Amino acid sequence: MAGAAHRNTGVEGVDGGVGLTALLVAAARAIETNRHDPLARDVYAEHFVLAAPASVGWPVRMQQVPDGEANPLWGRFARYFGLRTRVFDDFLLRSVREDARQVVLLGAGLDSRAFRLDWPPDCVIFEIDREGVLAFKHEVLDGLSAAPKAARVPIPVDLRADWVGALTDAGFDTAAPSVWLAEGLLFYLPNTAETYLIDTVDRLSAGGSTLTFEVKLDKDLLEYRDSPLYTSTTQQIGIDLLALFDREPRPDSAGNLAGKGWSTTVHTPFDFTRHHGRGPLPEQNDALAGNRWVFANKPRP
Ligand SMILES: C[S@@+](CC[C@H](N)C(=O)[O-])C[C@H]1O[C@@H](n2cnc3c(N)ncnc32)[C@H](O)[C@@H]1O
Repeated sequence: MAGAAHRNTGVEGVDGGVGLTALLVAAARAIETNRHDPLARDVYAEHFVLAAPASVGWPVRMQQVPDGEANPLWGRFARYFGLRTRVFDDFLLRSVREDARQVVLLGAGLDSRAFRLDWPPDCVIFEIDREGVLAFKHEVLDGLSAAPKAARVPIPVDLRADWVGALTDAGFDTAAPSVWLAEGLLFYLPNTAETYLIDTVDRLSAGGSTLTFEVKLDKDLLEYRDSPLYTSTTQQIGIDLLALFDREPRPDSAGNLAGKGWSTTVHTPFDFTRHHGRGPLPEQNDALAGNRWVFANKPRP
């Protein structure tokens, strides 16, 4: 499936291509952690940034950013990632306090939730990403002697291929409720891979399972190519997000799930900014304007 040529081939680790975006999120989480009013805390994040040759010189605290909060990348955009981390942390923890005992992090990148959140004792966390990204993650975490707070199963596989066998071979139980997360992932995948992913999550999910994911609803991503957020990310750290995003028309994944009987709610990030009293708000020429966070529940039989 999903044989379309894609910009994230070639570089396998965190040194470039889409893998480098995992370091961008880690830097943002480090900055968030070191704020006086963090929305989320990730003590591992700065270690990833400091260990990777590709992120030499990147800040891990706001005091290292000469223009501070006014910097579109390390100010507003980093805070966006801090807010997103908090909202998805809360969703995952709520899900495991209810039915789910299996957590699947799709495109896990340098997500350290297995190590930093308090999971119920019988929880299993599956982390799917490409091999090079997971290898870098393990090198850093092993160096810190970090211990996961739940059983953790890394699954090195490309989500454009058929990843179901890898997940079920790793012990995922289709009869037990699960919670799934696709954070900062879907817009890098070809349209067909996103549809396959959503269909597959539905197929593998027992009643009582939940899923949350991020999408971009923009009709034309290039509309915001001159936005402060995209231009600062390219100029300051050399990540051209628009070149990494898949620019085919996107599937309606929230609608697809609703059609399969899931109950779904769709929020803007700004809804949560208002809820938490901090985070990004809308602005002119805003690359975040089309971002939506979708929360879905599969009814119990
Ligand atoms: C922006 S990072 C987000 C990482 C993580 N979810 C987080 O929020 O910290 C995007 C991640 O998606 C992964 N990714 C992108 N395309 C992928 C693919 N085809 N298969 C597996 N992982 C992929 C990248 O390797 C990267 O780790």
